[in-house]
Amino acid sequence: MMSAKVFPAVSFDFKSDAIAPDKSISHRCAMFAVLAEGESRIENFLRAEDTLNTLNIVGQLGADIHDDGKVITIISHGIHETSEILDCGNSGTGMRLFCGLLSSAEGHFILTGDEYLKRRPMKRVTQPLRNIGAQLDGRNNGDLAPLSIRGASLKAFSYESKVASAQVKSAMILAALRSDGMCTFREPELSRDHTERMLLGMGAHIECNALETKIWPLEKPLTPLSIRVPADPSSAFFFAVAAAITPNSSTVIEGVTLNPTRIEAFKVLERMGANITYTITSEKYEPIGSITVKYAPLKAVVVSENIAWLIDELPVLSIAMACAEGKSLIQNAQELRVKESDRIKTVVDNLNLCGIQTEEFSDGYAVMGGTLHSARVNSHGDHRIAMSFCIAGIRCGMEVEDIECINTSFPNFFALLAQCTKVNR
Ligand code: S3P
Repeated sequence: MMSAKVFPAVSFDFKSDAIAPDKSISHRCAMFAVLAEGESRIENFLRAEDTLNTLNIVGQLGADIHDDGKVITIISHGIHETSEILDCGNSGTGMRLFCGLLSSAEGHFILTGDEYLKRRPMKRVTQPLRNIGAQLDGRNNGDLAPLSIRGASLKAFSYESKVASAQVKSAMILAALRSDGMCTFREPELSRDHTERMLLGMGAHIECNALETKIWPLEKPLTPLSIRVPADPSSAFFFAVAAAITPNSSTVIEGVTLNPTRIEAFKVLERMGANITYTITSEKYEPIGSITVKYAPLKAVVVSENIAWLIDELPVLSIAMACAEGKSLIQNAQELRVKESDRIKTVVDNLNLCGIQTEEFSDGYAVMGGTLHSARVNSHGDHRIAMSFCIAGIRCGMEVEDIECINTSFPNFFALLAQCTKVNR
């Protein structure tokens, strides 16, 4: 098991156009290319474990994939049964979206994942898919991977999801595209909308109206994608917090998606006092541009709305809360319990090890701003926990154990962190 020692930073001006490409968009590019006729061209695809697993599965399902090191091209020949087991690794997005895509494909498919993914709930997609005729099964009556799927004809649906989850929404949209009529999907809060934007750009008939999405079955294959994947705001946010907690420091991130459903954590950091500006420079499928973050003393904040828009950033936002004046609160975030780790527990336990007082609730936690102390913490195999506590190290020094998981989403994280402070591995 590898560990990293991060040393406190004095001050830095960090500027990068090399933040990891967006994970959500990369997964979708690879999968949606399967529904297109012709060659999809994807530049700046995220070359991390999660998304390379998805790309590999797309190849196992019969697509021709060519990678010249810069542009990945995908030519689909429809979805074909394979003798191989489809391994999603650590990725919930991979597994849940493939459930939607494969539910209507001809043949039998097995999806599996690593020890962490095999513990995460899948019923949120298998149940609504079963309700419309999909033949899906797994341990615990279809809740736990490995999952088996036998493609079937799917009925049109009107589904109201209890959870605001882009993975559930996307799985159902993929199923709807190959169902027998117009479908309606509703969610309690808007979740990230990359699926809708990308499929619309590829010619699908989808209407989005606040919390309701209407989807019509495909009458012909989609137009191929031509996309440069923007930087991932969730990955960029680690360096935003780094600047926000280090006096006289700044971070500039270029080429990042400014999709409103993805930059809510930056808005919260602004509410805490950080100085943040956004500049849109282009727009294709998504608004894309740059974000500048400058240090300012931080004050406590309550986060209880639009949780789906910042769920992935809450662990590192908690590091900013630990450095802020006063008691911060995260509420309505029970989804944190079923991420790559139980992130309520892993954040609270690790903050306590760093001398920060917390209170744990079933749907969130409170963080008492104070003085972060150097400690030895464990990631529990969760990439975002590992990176969050490396960022805390910028303030006070930190040893973080079990850092291999960072490769699932941000392989050049340490190379970039070394531009802000000293790191030993
Ligand atoms: C994702 C959706 C979110 C997010 C995950 C990526 C996606 O999960 O946490 O990292 O790409 O659709 P939920 O759909 O479970 O909220």
